Amino acid sequence: MNNVLVIGSLNADLVVKSPRFPQPGETISGDDLQIIPGGKGANQAVAAARQGVKTTMIGRVGSDSFGPFLVENLKSNDVDTSHIMKTDSATGTAIIVVDENGQNSIVLSPGANGLVTPADVDSASFLNSKLLLLQLEIPTLTVLHAAQRACEHGLTVILNPAPAKPLPAELLANVDILIPNESELSLLTGLPVNDASSAEVAAKEILKQGVKTVIVTLGSKGALLITSTQVKHVDTFKVNVVDTTAAGDAFIGGFASAILNEKSLEESVRYGCACGALATTKFGAQPSLPTKEEVEKFMA
Ligand code: RIB
Repeated sequence: MNNVLVIGSLNADLVVKSPRFPQPGETISGDDLQIIPGGKGANQAVAAARQGVKTTMIGRVGSDSFGPFLVENLKSNDVDTSHIMKTDSATGTAIIVVDENGQNSIVLSPGANGLVTPADVDSASFLNSKLLLLQLEIPTLTVLHAAQRACEHGLTVILNPAPAKPLPAELLANVDILIPNESELSLLTGLPVNDASSAEVAAKEILKQGVKTVIVTLGSKGALLITSTQVKHVDTFKVNVVDTTAAGDAFIGGFASAILNEKSLEESVRYGCACGALATTKFGAQPSLPTKEEVEKFMA
């Protein structure tokens, strides 16, 4: 059984490590350019697959050399790529600067990700999956269609609303678990979110819209789990941060795998925190995603 279905983006990450972020109009020198497999959808697919979960991805790449580079990397991580289509366009790219503190700034060029359609979603059977992972680097209409179809087939729908944008109410009504960071939650609700208590207030507004569970990722402060009956702050692990890119994706893949292994919500959030923390200790998106063995050893 394919336990996790991911419908989302694949990006070639064009990454330069730099002492700091440039000011507008300023030119500074960084390290050598690295081209690294990324994209929130593909990152979350690899993150789940490295936890031993059977994972299928639906998405699009372009007709340039980045397309096969990204698809081959998914295959080598045991992700089923038979529903990834090739489009007569550029592959999605992300221009990423990572500063000396491991923080990043990212500009996306969507390319083929912007062409993923509801018909692409219908190309795959949902019958073999238990859980759907969605993000917002493909068109919102396609995300909505996928969420509706997953609900009809009884899958658990997890939405990572990144990059943040306003969402139609019908989408949130079809989401079981929403996993935003603080700025994404703030944009979705129009409320200030800058600590655990403001995150709780904003998350409760999201619950009113039909989402059953909200998990707010708080970076080095862990995560906040909010349901209609529970509010729980879960601490994360202290690590030496090299690069935060894809830490959120590592959290989501790890969390999803723990849910499929029938761990409680709180245990799954803790497991996701371990995956996210480990991902920050290595450079790049997909190369930094931990395996099941690494996470278990780290948590022990
Ligand atoms: O979440 C990290 C990802 O965001 C990067 O891999 C980049 O491709 C952007 O999509």
